[in-house]
Amino acid sequence: MDVYQCLRSRRTVRDYKPDPIPQELVRRILKAGRWAPSSSNTQKWHFIVIQERDTLQALGKIATQGTFIAQAPLTIAIVMDDAPRPQLDAGRALQQMELMAWSEGVGMCFVGVREADQQIAVKKLLGIPETMELITLLPFGYRADVPKAEGTPRKPLEEIVHWERFDGKAI
Ligand SMILES: Cc1cc2nc3c(=O)[nH]c(=O)nc-3n(C[C@H](O)[C@H](O)[C@H](O)COP(=O)(O)O)c2cc1C
Repeated sequence: MDVYQCLRSRRTVRDYKPDPIPQELVRRILKAGRWAPSSSNTQKWHFIVIQERDTLQALGKIATQGTFIAQAPLTIAIVMDDAPRPQLDAGRALQQMELMAWSEGVGMCFVGVREADQQIAVKKLLGIPETMELITLLPFGYRADVPKAEGTPRKPLEEIVHWERFDGKAI
């Protein structure tokens, strides 16, 4: 799939078929994250692959913004270890994972684990060292619902693009 077509057609997916994702594709998704750029090439990321149903269900109970994790065949937790810019590095890795998956027909959702007690519970469940930062849980799966044709709206380019200076007008 062409890169622009891949990122233009991508949608967040929160409703998954029970079908498992082939292990070969799981590895390609992980490799796509591994090849992401990071600040000074520090690569301070860890990717926890979760496919056991009991763990997925427990995560779905803890992460109230992502209860659908319980139905996903796969979730990848993105964890950063003392990186200079953890959220930027993690964001680049997970975006590559998402696009890799999407190009093979698999969707995902960024699930924020914002509350301190949720962070503690997920870290305990997955055995993540206290010193590390849990960035997000990413449930992946084949889409079960029918997507809306128009997708989620975006602001017009004219509202967000500035030419040469912040007050520069669109050409
Ligand atoms: C930083 C970030 C946090 C998000 N957190 C959640 C979340 O906790 N739960 C959820 O269902 N979606 C979450 N999303 C998904 C957004 O709601 C979604 O990307 C946005 O509405 C645009 O829709 P689209 O991805 O289909 O284009 C998050 C996305 C980002 C980038």
